[in-house]
Amino acid sequence: MTAQLIDGNALSKQIRAEVAQRAAALTARGVKPGLAVILVGDNPASQVYVRNKVKACEDGGLHSVLEKYDAAMTEAELLARIDALNNDPAIHGILVQLPLPKHIDDHKVIEAISPAKDVDGFHVSSAGALMVGEVGFKACTPYGCMKMLESIGMKDLRGKHAVVIGRSNIVGKPMAMMLLAANATVTICHSGTADLGAMTRQADIVVAAVGKRDVLTADRVKPGAVVIDVGMNRNDEGKLCGDVDFAGVKEVAGWITPVPGGVGPMTITMLLVNTIEAAERCA
Ligand code: GUN
Repeated sequence: MTAQLIDGNALSKQIRAEVAQRAAALTARGVKPGLAVILVGDNPASQVYVRNKVKACEDGGLHSVLEKYDAAMTEAELLARIDALNNDPAIHGILVQLPLPKHIDDHKVIEAISPAKDVDGFHVSSAGALMVGEVGFKACTPYGCMKMLESIGMKDLRGKHAVVIGRSNIVGKPMAMMLLAANATVTICHSGTADLGAMTRQADIVVAAVGKRDVLTADRVKPGAVVIDVGMNRNDEGKLCGDVDFAGVKEVAGWITPVPGGVGPMTITMLLVNTIEAAERCA
């Protein structure tokens, strides 16, 4: 069997068209949705990410500001900038690109962002809201994964067993909470889980979010399962690859997300959705 692809580029395009419509409607009512992106230091990957986020805002009709600071910026200076943006009515969402330089406490910085503007969904208040089913912001990458499941008719996951591999605060844990909120039975594993294959072979849905190649191989997948690959790694030839052995797993799975062109484009798309949502809550 050859799995069907879940095309993140196509789904992103569709959602971004909806975002542009909502942005235009808000702008017509006098509320142009605005995102502030803060980058501290010169991490090359972060520079690409923030550029893509700002470009996506421009393309969707959102207002955006990119604030770039030297790596020597102090924590107090960064907290002062966040305070100013918290009080800026033109800004509905604030994103501080991670990782931050080592002398800055990223937890303190994230907690300084107003929960009403936490479009990354990393604030304790957003994580707590997700946990108890209250209104907050969903972390963008797992939110994108949920949209991918929805796109293949998997919205209510009652009776489905989902296995998440990876337990980071920005993907694994919120992913597990979102799957649970969609009524799935959820198992959270990590790369060191004893007999990981015994866990994943039970799964109707596997989400791999470890950051290591070949975490999920064909022998670890139930025939027909949905496989979502959150990984972003490089293979021996330097080409982008995920956590899933794509060539092997696509012969067993029912659905699979490719890397690139899968979860990647969805992350920025859901950032736009969260920013629109933040602006709509003010309108
Ligand atoms: N660094 C890597 N991914 C992310 C993300 O989704 N948001 C932020 N703020 N930083 C990141």
